[in-house]
Amino acid sequence: MPEGTRAETNAGAAGRKPMTTTKLRSMKAKGDPITVVTAYDYPSAQLAEAAGAEVLLVGDSLGNVVQGRETTLSVTLDHIVYHTEIVSRASKTAFVVADLPFATYHGGVDATLANVARVIREGGAKGVKLEGGREILPAVTAAVSAGVPVMGHLGLTPQSVHAIGGYKVQGKQSAAAAKLLDDALRLEEAGAFALVLELVTDELAAAITERLSIPTIGIGSGPRCDGQVLVFHDILQYGLDPWPKKFVKTYANVGAVVKDAIAAYVRDVKQRSFPEERHTFHMEESELPPVYGGGNGGVRTGGEGEES
Ligand code: KIV
Repeated sequence: MPEGTRAETNAGAAGRKPMTTTKLRSMKAKGDPITVVTAYDYPSAQLAEAAGAEVLLVGDSLGNVVQGRETTLSVTLDHIVYHTEIVSRASKTAFVVADLPFATYHGGVDATLANVARVIREGGAKGVKLEGGREILPAVTAAVSAGVPVMGHLGLTPQSVHAIGGYKVQGKQSAAAAKLLDDALRLEEAGAFALVLELVTDELAAAITERLSIPTIGIGSGPRCDGQVLVFHDILQYGLDPWPKKFVKTYANVGAVVKDAIAAYVRDVKQRSFPEERHTFHMEESELPPVYGGGNGGVRTGGEGEES
C-alpha cells in the first residue's frame, strides 16, 4: 500500500481479513455472493468498504459519474492511477481492482505491461480489469504472467460503445451468446480470476456462471451471477442527473440530501445566520488596540470554543 496511508482509521473494516482472489473463488464455490462497488476517492472507498463491499473497482465509469462525460473514452491512464492511489490508500481489506482505460492494452505486450505496472506500482491496485474477449487474450496473458490478477469484462463493454452502437443488452441471439460464452471460457483459460458480465441476458449470464470456475460479477445481467457490481453514484443517486437505468436499484437519494443541506447553508449565509457565536474565534481584549486603533469598536471578545 502506498506510503502515508490512513486506512487504519477505517473502523468499518476492523476484524476483516484482506480479500484475495483465492477467497473470491472459494466464495463462488460456497455460493456466497460477492459484492463489488465502484469507488473513486477517499470517502467513497472508506464508506463502501465499511459497508461490507469485498471488492472496490476504480472503474473508468469515473468518466461518467465524476467527470460528467457521456462515455468512458476520455478517461486516461493518469486519471485511473490518480484515483486508484486514493482508493488503495483508503482501503484496508477490500480487493482493489482498477480499470485499464480505453486503448491502454491494445498496443502490444510491452506497452500493456508498462501501463499495468503504473496502475499496480503507483496506484497500489491489487488487480486490473480489461474489457473484451479473444482479441485481448495476449494482454490478459501478459498481465497474468507478470503476476497481476486480471478481471475480465464481457457483454456491453463501454469502451467499445460506438462499435457496439449504443448501451444495449448483449448476447440476445444464440450466435452472439455462443461467442460470449466462448470468450468467457478463453478468458478463464488465460488466467482471469473473475469476469464482469455487463448487460447480458439472465439466461446467458447463468450459463456462463455455470460453466466457469472463476466468479462472474454481474451488472444488468440478472441474479444468477456469483456477485454483483454497481456504480457508487447509482446506488446513492448522488448527483442531479436522472437515474433511468432499469438494472440499477437506488438505495438512497444522497443527491437530494446534499442539495438540501447546501441550500440551507446558502440560505444561512445570505441571512447572516451562519456563522454563529459558537463558530467564531476572538482576540483577547488587550490585543485589540493596534487592530482597532485604540478602541475595540464595540466588537465582542472572548467566547466558548476559543482556541489559541
Ligand atoms: O467502469 C465501471 O464502473 C465498470 C463497472 C460498471 C463494471 O466497468
